[in-house]
Amino acid sequence: MKRRNFLSAAGASLAVASLDGVALETSKRPLRLLILGGTRFIGLHMTELALARGHTLTFFNRGRTNTDRFPDIERLRGDRNGDLKSLEGRQWDAVIDNSGYVPRQIRDAATLLEPRVARYVFISTISVYENFARANDEASSVGKLTDESVETVDGATYGPLKALCETAARAVFGERRTSIIRPGLIVGPDDNTDRFTYWPARAARGGRMIAPNDPRDPVQIIDARDLAAFTLRLIEDGTSGTFNALSPPGRFTIGEVVNESMAAANALAPPTVAPKAEWVSTKTLDEQKITAWADMPVWAPSEGDNVGFAATSADRALKAGLSIRPMRVTVRDTLAWYLGRPESERTKLKAGLSPEREAAALLAIEQSRSKQG
Ligand SMILES: NC(=O)c1ccc[n+]([C@@H]2O[C@H](COP(=O)([O-])OP(=O)(O)OC[C@H]3O[C@@H](n4cnc5c(N)ncnc54)[C@H](OP(=O)(O)O)[C@@H]3O)[C@@H](O)[C@H]2O)c1
Repeated sequence: MKRRNFLSAAGASLAVASLDGVALETSKRPLRLLILGGTRFIGLHMTELALARGHTLTFFNRGRTNTDRFPDIERLRGDRNGDLKSLEGRQWDAVIDNSGYVPRQIRDAATLLEPRVARYVFISTISVYENFARANDEASSVGKLTDESVETVDGATYGPLKALCETAARAVFGERRTSIIRPGLIVGPDDNTDRFTYWPARAARGGRMIAPNDPRDPVQIIDARDLAAFTLRLIEDGTSGTFNALSPPGRFTIGEVVNESMAAANALAPPTVAPKAEWVSTKTLDEQKITAWADMPVWAPSEGDNVGFAATSADRALKAGLSIRPMRVTVRDTLAWYLGRPESERTKLKAGLSPEREAAALLAIEQSRSKQG
């Protein structure tokens, strides 16, 4: 469709639905949206909101992940690695690319779609930034690879590859038809990484729980539902550009994550022994080989090379309509979702300290404190 027509989708709207207890509005004009991916975590939330806003969706994926979710949505089968045939000859108002990790995937899909799709929305990441020794904004330098043809996605290449993906999207669709969203840590119901989920899940187990350093330490997150709302907002408003999408610096602390988790556990699933946070200094965490981020998810000390860890600017997105829900709501809904998961998933989280390691560390910390007198 023509950009002019697309832009006219913005503007007045009609209240009809409710999601999360929040009044929703349908878009002035329903759009046809293609999601590359769509059946995992962030795609699920984008889908739920897009449907509530009256849009029509198509998923493109291999048909492996969550095949039972949203059965009524049109599914195009294919593979970003070599089989895009099912995308040929179709028209959409926008494509949301959730599942691109190497620039070839973006180049191939964007080139095929460009003549018949008005806007390319690429879900990138704040990991594109070259370093976190400073507070980054969208103008900060991004990481680079010596060999840009590398396709192995790991801790070292993920960010620079996503930066190359952004460039590939802009190269095909042009600046005026491309929206790049760089989320921070995405959290909330359906999160398949268990990182944020660790905290409410841990609190629901009750008893003494290790918490990192100082409750005042800053953290940044984005609830997947706020990310979904922002993504759709950019599409409906026809907004181009690059946007960090996360809570602004100073909005949230690890203390709020832990305290809201304990409050939610006491309210939704009171354990036999109420949860109690034991705030453990970074020095003691190091002594116990408890790592930031992997063992203590969401948190890392804002110091040295990491001083800008929780200081990434969200100003541009906030001006473009990003809204951040209260931590209490994110924690409560994440816990409610977690409690409904199968037991095998609940007892084997992919992130955070295992009960055994935590118990051993608590004992060691206690012994060392009593030795020191
Ligand atoms: N999680 C975070 O905290 C975080 C933070 C910042 C940015 N991000 C970004 O968020 C995005 C979304 O992540 P996500 O975990 O929700 O989902 P994801 O891993 O990007 O995508 C899963 C979806 O893509 C499909 N898919 C996977 N490989 C495919 C292929 N080769 N061809 C076609 N479809 C394929 C899957 O369905 P099938 O398996 O059925 O094909 C599924 O629908 C990613 O781009 C990530 O970089 C995540």
